[in-house]
Amino acid sequence: MLARRLLCVVPHTRPAGLERHLRAEGWELFWVTDLSAVQRLRQRMGISCCLVLLDQVDLAITAALDAVVRPTDGAEWVVLCPGRAMELPAFRELVADAFFDYHTEPVDPSCLLQILAHAHRRASLRATCREAAPAHGADSLGMVGQSAAMARLRTQIRKVAVTEAPVLIGGESGSGKELAAQAIHHGSARADGPFVAVNCGAIVPALAQSELFGHERGSFTGALTDRRGLIASAQGGTLFLDEIGDLPLDLQTNLLRFLQEKTIQRVGGARSLPVDVRVVAASHIDLAEAVACGKFREDLYYRLHVLSITVPPLRERKEDVPMLAQHFYRRCSADLRTTKVEGFSRQAVAAMMAHDWPGNVRELFNRVQRAVVMTDSRLIAPDDLELSCDEHEHGVCLDAARTLAERDAIRFTLDRTGRNVTHAARELGVSRMTLYRLMEKHRIASPG
Ligand SMILES: Nc1ncnc2c1ncn2[C@@H]1O[C@H](COP(=O)(O)OP(=O)(O)O)[C@@H](O)[C@H]1O
Ligand SMILES: [Mg+2]
Repeated sequence: MLARRLLCVVPHTRPAGLERHLRAEGWELFWVTDLSAVQRLRQRMGISCCLVLLDQVDLAITAALDAVVRPTDGAEWVVLCPGRAMELPAFRELVADAFFDYHTEPVDPSCLLQILAHAHRRASLRATCREAAPAHGADSLGMVGQSAAMARLRTQIRKVAVTEAPVLIGGESGSGKELAAQAIHHGSARADGPFVAVNCGAIVPALAQSELFGHERGSFTGALTDRRGLIASAQGGTLFLDEIGDLPLDLQTNLLRFLQEKTIQRVGGARSLPVDVRVVAASHIDLAEAVACGKFREDLYYRLHVLSITVPPLRERKEDVPMLAQHFYRRCSADLRTTKVEGFSRQAVAAMMAHDWPGNVRELFNRVQRAVVMTDSRLIAPDDLELSCDEHEHGVCLDAARTLAERDAIRFTLDRTGRNVTHAARELGVSRMTLYRLMEKHRIASPG
């Protein structure tokens, strides 16, 4: 539980008697008369709740309040105001959106104290959730997700990262292939060198040769100076060839030569230049199929295919969806600086679990980004994500939600009991055997 610290914002006169009631309930009180002092004090003093006491409400006060209440940082807001204040639509909307609750005059101390106690509980609960949110530290390789599929992918990435051989990354669009390539680079001995990403589908065919391999001055019209080329610019680092299936056949030949000989020849150049670059390639199409239809060189395919990993589509690791959504929500709210959005409604989580994510993680990011900007309420709803949650889907959602809740409860209890299965089983009210079975079901490792 957070400390009971209440910031009272009183632009006019302090209501008599209230202070005594609040202190008797164990609240430590801080008073300000000026709204501009609120932010500073709230952060410095670790305030859990803010109580605004208004004896009149107009548009100017509403606007000033709006500016300090909306940027939420964990404190809950409660307002005490005259009953007629609720007749002002702008104020009513602000209270509905951004406040935990309101109380109208005449003051009923026990009712107000109860509201504040609830607000405090909620602020504490949210603080606990924030603390319990998994840190995406070094061992996550910058990739969010705790599914077994992600754990496998991380293991594979660590293994291939330490070698020098080319890596081929497969997986649907938006599943995280480029992120995996970056993780390989950062996990390799080349981490201090450059990571150069090239989208093979986006280079203009006529210029592709010079883009990749560079050119010498005067080698063609417009080649006014020497140019290094993308491969050489990755010297000492990693070259990421995205959508390599789109590489024209003649360039495939040159790329193969570069992979075999570790040298490149610039357009118009006579010499072979040595380059020290590791290649990581990705493709959303099946390259073996492209080889079969003659669109991709078989020898290049085998050269690249020695080490290959596949990023699984998001629909095959749905348990990662809530954590990814939360991660993107945090990132988007930090970018926006001021947002009143606090997270996702239960229905939104259910709708996300029910959705099939054809655009994978990129689609999830786009939907969350849009929702954070467009939503009118504190909690993102399915509509904000442009997702529906019909009855059929609801069944699926609830199931998934139950499974998630079960897994979280087990993880949390095991962590709290220092991974003591006997104690954890007792706390969870199940036998040790049942707990072992559930741990296996959720792929939670047994304490070793
Ligand atoms: N596991 C993950 N954790 C965090 N962000 C992710 C994850 N997977 C993908 N992303 C994000 O989703 C978007 C699409 O990923 P990207 O690597 O470009 O996909 P692909 O190259 O397969 O099309 C990027 O913004 C990326 O940062
Ligand atoms: Mg990509």
